[in-house]
Amino acid sequence: MKTLVIGSGGREHALAWRLEKSESVPQVALWPGNGGTAGLGWNLDPALFEDQDEAAAIIAWQPDLVVIGPEAPLVDGLADKLRAAGLAVFGPGANGAKLEGSKIFAKDFMLRHGIPTADSRRITSEAELIEAMNIMGDAVVLKADGLAAGKGVLLPESRSEALEAGAAMLSGASFGEAGQSLLLEERLDGYEVSLLAILDGENYYLLPASQDHKRALEGDRGPNTGGMGAYAPVPGLDEADLAKLGEEVFGASLKGLATDGIDYRGVLYAGLMMTPAGPKVLEFNVRFGDPETQALMLMLEGDFGTLLASAAKGKLDPGAVSHREGAAMVVVLSSKGYPDKPETGYTIEDTLAASGQRSAESVVFHAGTRVEDGKLINCGGRVLGVTAWGRDLAQAADRCYHRADEIHYEGKTLRRDIGWRVLSKGSVT
Ligand code: AMP
Ligand code: GLY
Repeated sequence: MKTLVIGSGGREHALAWRLEKSESVPQVALWPGNGGTAGLGWNLDPALFEDQDEAAAIIAWQPDLVVIGPEAPLVDGLADKLRAAGLAVFGPGANGAKLEGSKIFAKDFMLRHGIPTADSRRITSEAELIEAMNIMGDAVVLKADGLAAGKGVLLPESRSEALEAGAAMLSGASFGEAGQSLLLEERLDGYEVSLLAILDGENYYLLPASQDHKRALEGDRGPNTGGMGAYAPVPGLDEADLAKLGEEVFGASLKGLATDGIDYRGVLYAGLMMTPAGPKVLEFNVRFGDPETQALMLMLEGDFGTLLASAAKGKLDPGAVSHREGAAMVVVLSSKGYPDKPETGYTIEDTLAASGQRSAESVVFHAGTRVEDGKLINCGGRVLGVTAWGRDLAQAADRCYHRADEIHYEGKTLRRDIGWRVLSKGSVT
């Protein structure tokens, strides 16, 4: 299967890396890809995209399988266009992608189909916001309805902060149109888990549960980012817990999607809060998580290409892959100033690669990297995802940090405490 991955992040590099190791995939390509995947010779030639639109160029390349990485093209209907031309596509159409594209659509979907989620109110004016806060209290979360590049969720510390932030969203000042409708949600306590499943429209296959670290600073402080590191699996969730969660979230979602006439073929990512009252879905994403995917790809054995192609064709083959023992971790190396103002343009040096050696125990997935005058430079907020498998989480962490120390560039920034709860306390809470 000639396979094309759409996207340019660490997630897409990791997906392509796992696909390339699949017997069913003799050739993998990326569009647009990044500096790391260019170095592997995997990026499609930009000339292909010069005189025609993206969908037409992809169709002309004649892939046997297309895997769409990011949410924006899914929400824009790229999967629909490619399917209409007869391609096998892993990724939902625009109707399914609304589960991520509109927080209000997702909330209505969860309520309609009995999927556990936080209590909430839809808000379109400041008067509604004040009224709703009088009922719900001050412990709230504000969510812009539309896509806001992962920044549309605010956790205000006080009532006045909530009202101010809400007013800025409703006026369009903070997130433009995406925030002019918003969801006011009760603030839940608990620990967060990312649970992803591969769906073929009727059945689902659970990937190992993982945990992301969204805050920029150690100890889970500082501003929210796209994710500074992640690990899998999550200790304390045994097979029976996961099977129950799978039914409550993905079993119920598949029934709901069928009722709503949505044929969903792709990955569904549930951001869960494990509360004392049980799990609640905080958000749905219609794509793989970044950086969770980097860790997940090291936890899978078997033919990932067959798994994704089987989902794309509506005939899920869960036997194509299996979960490895042990644990995997990814540590993100970011640019100084990320997430607000990443400082870019510095040369990246890798002392291990420069010595001609390779690590058998870790993989460095590229995200914000570009090749310029033959040199690799950082060109985005999240630059590299240093990822390793270990017989346990402690060994995976050792391997990640050892490898991360072999990479140098001006302003290299990383959290040294990924997995800290489990590693220091032996539990996720
Ligand atoms: P999201 O972009 O929806 O994943 O939200 C970003 C982060 O905000 C989540 O990872 C949580 O840490 C936090 N969050 C979202 N909704 C809630 C909620 N209802 N209660 C507490 N924290 C939340
Ligand atoms: N790591 C969080 C996300 O991909 O949304």
